[in-house]
Amino acid sequence: MKLLILNGPNLNLLGTRESDIYGSQKFEDYLHTLQAKYSSIEIEYKQSNSEGTIIDILQESENNFDGVILNAAAYTHTSIAIRDAIAAISTPVVEVHISNIHAREDFRKKSIITEKCVGIVSGLGLSGYEAGVIYFVS
Ligand code: DQA
Repeated sequence: MKLLILNGPNLNLLGTRESDIYGSQKFEDYLHTLQAKYSSIEIEYKQSNSEGTIIDILQESENNFDGVILNAAAYTHTSIAIRDAIAAISTPVVEVHISNIHAREDFRKKSIITEKCVGIVSGLGLSGYEAGVIYFVS
């Protein structure tokens, strides 16, 4: 099994970015732990701050991955294009948010991609990514 974790804008700054909300662990450090724990599967990681690149990566995932764990970050709330990309591919996508988007500002409460994803994990911190892995593995 081959999974892709795809992070959107500003998530390259995890560890230093608003650590009261997103924690103080660098994503790469968390990823290494996750990859070691699930060493029988392949977990690849990509991050982009650009909407078009995220769409390209989603399209390319079609024949290369069994599932995508996507944190589209702020594009979650704005990008019809990313929603359309998720709808266009047959690769199942799990939506993840580190914070609980329903417990924050009103503009974060609406995800326009959820309807096209198999499910959503929000508010469990970085372990939300592991929840996505567990879904695909089981
Ligand atoms: C986020 C929540 C979004 O509202 C925000 O724009 C992010 C991160 C999260 O993981 O909690 O950048 O997706």
